Amino acid sequence: MKETIVSGIRASGKLHIGNYLGALKQFVELQNEGNNCFFFIADLHALTTPFEPKELSQNTLEVAADYLAAGIDPKKSTFFLQSQVLEHTELAWIFNSLTSLGELNRMTQFKEKSDQHKEGINAGLLTYPTLMAADILLYKPTGVPVGDDQTQHVELTRNIARKFNNRFGKTFPEPKTYLRKPLRIMSLSDPTKKMSKTGDEALMLDDSPAEILRKLKKAPTATDAKQESPGVGNLFLILEHFADKKTFKSFSRQQEDNSIKYSELKNALAKLIADHFANFRKKKQQLLARPDQIQDILVQGGTKARKVAQATLIEVKTKIGLI
Ligand code: TYM
Repeated sequence: MKETIVSGIRASGKLHIGNYLGALKQFVELQNEGNNCFFFIADLHALTTPFEPKELSQNTLEVAADYLAAGIDPKKSTFFLQSQVLEHTELAWIFNSLTSLGELNRMTQFKEKSDQHKEGINAGLLTYPTLMAADILLYKPTGVPVGDDQTQHVELTRNIARKFNNRFGKTFPEPKTYLRKPLRIMSLSDPTKKMSKTGDEALMLDDSPAEILRKLKKAPTATDAKQESPGVGNLFLILEHFADKKTFKSFSRQQEDNSIKYSELKNALAKLIADHFANFRKKKQQLLARPDQIQDILVQGGTKARKVAQATLIEVKTKIGLI
């Protein structure tokens, strides 16, 4: 059975392998299985943390090129910019009025982000999840592929859908995350934190082979393989996704019998990742050389998305008594 799938990525910098393994890789698979997919760049969500206008436009193009170079095909998927489909913010306002402050205050991402940006905790950071619920529910999907850090927001989206349906009549499905166990790739420099878009802690999808090796070499491991090490666990988690079964088993065996040389593991992993993204790097460069083409693709995708979004919003407005 074909499913309707929705997901987005913030326009807050180029993508890393956490974004790829946790989200983008699944997007491409779901698209190529023939599902009805809506993928977008969450440029409005990027306004909730400090930003510079020029960087925001450049980041939006970078993320668009990341999507396209990774295999998102605008002929198969509806691919668009959040800010170009006005229904997202309108439905978010309606959801704001149905969501309690308590529910929003409980979101771990809000707590983490407001700790990081103590001077500038804006209202958008708090209402981030209601915009996200609008992003999702406008398209009435069954599945929302996201990494582990976003599952709480998808759960809140399900609650909002349930609340709306109970009060105003069945309108929305209650969408689920796509992987039964969503992924969390950890930072290379501090493997107790999730990999994020800043510093040497993240492997970007377009990093050169030399850059990948340099970053991996710096990643902490353990002096003794028997020692429980989050850094080693993370390297194995990444290895599992890029290596064939034989290579993965061979390193796992060496880890178990304590004969492993982490420098060899890192060299092998660097080569696997660099090879995996060789084509991607080329395509991304070609795409970024033609930003006008990227913009055309996004405008066309926005027109397609708006048709679906408008129909849902009219239904919602009628049901809640807006005339
Ligand atoms: P963003 O840009 O922070 O992350 C994009 C996707 O990448 C996943 N991700 C990870 N997965 C595994 N390990 C990591 N270290 C890692 N870091 C990030 C995220 O879980 C996400 O799936 N709020 C969303 C953007 C959004 C959205 C939506 C998503 C806005 N509206 C509606 C789905 C549906 C976000 O945090 O993006």
